[in-house]
Amino acid sequence: MPSKNGSVDPEIDATAQGADLTYGARHVAIIMDGNGRWAKRKHLPRSLGHKKGVEAVRNIVRAAGEVGIEVLTLYAFSSENWSRPAEEVTDLMGLLRQYIQSDIDEFDENGIRLKIIGNYKALDRDIVDLIDNALERTAGNERMTLAIALNYGAQDEILRAVQTIAMAVKNGEVEPDQINISHMSGALDTAGLPPLDLLIRTSGELRLSNFLLWQAAYSELYFTETLWPDFDKQELLRALESFGSRDRRFGGR
Ligand code: IPE
Ligand code: IPE
Ligand code: MG
Repeated sequence: MPSKNGSVDPEIDATAQGADLTYGARHVAIIMDGNGRWAKRKHLPRSLGHKKGVEAVRNIVRAAGEVGIEVLTLYAFSSENWSRPAEEVTDLMGLLRQYIQSDIDEFDENGIRLKIIGNYKALDRDIVDLIDNALERTAGNERMTLAIALNYGAQDEILRAVQTIAMAVKNGEVEPDQINISHMSGALDTAGLPPLDLLIRTSGELRLSNFLLWQAAYSELYFTETLWPDFDKQELLRALESFGSRDRRFGGR
């Protein structure tokens, strides 16, 4: 709807015209990077960068729901992040604890089903209990799936999937030469989720850092210089718009 000076808010305008702001992206994943650099630039402790990062998570989860994304997968803690100083790991775990406790009601109100990928059972017992409770409570929600990657590493995920399949072979459930792509997909932590359409990384780093290596086979990639705490709905819409302009060929013509 044009305002007095004739300018149009592109989002309101697109929505009014019934446009699909996801451009058909059903599953979007984000490597949320740059909290530390955000804090450093502002001469603040890293912990405040992570705290601000949680606010960005909250915003983007809301925005993704509003836009109509089916699955949002967020890389929150990698299997390699244990190598950070103990104090930082403790900070991150504290924020995770707080986030689940404070946002679980909102997940439920907004029809968000929580899912965890990664070996989260290795986290502190109280966090595992919080997560298990949240998983159970939100299991029936259908508007959007929020998959959080915790103690996640794609190589570890693939290894665990191979172990699952090897057990099936050992038990005589499948012949080795019958193992196919759907066996693998079905044994990964992302089993049952739609294919990954768009993978976003913030903070200007051009690497995957052991995230969704199998699932990203034909995903569109989007890199932005924006540091995670500054990533907002506008940025998400921009990434989706870029996705919408891609010619996905999947090896065909
Ligand atoms: C992302 O921000 C958060 C996690 C990896 C948990 P970083 O902490 O990696 O921030 P930078 O990359 O040092 O700026
Ligand atoms: C990737 O970011 C992990 C998460 C965002 C949770 P990192 O900051 O850990 O990645 P590297 O070390 O720069 O590759
Ligand atoms: Mg980083």
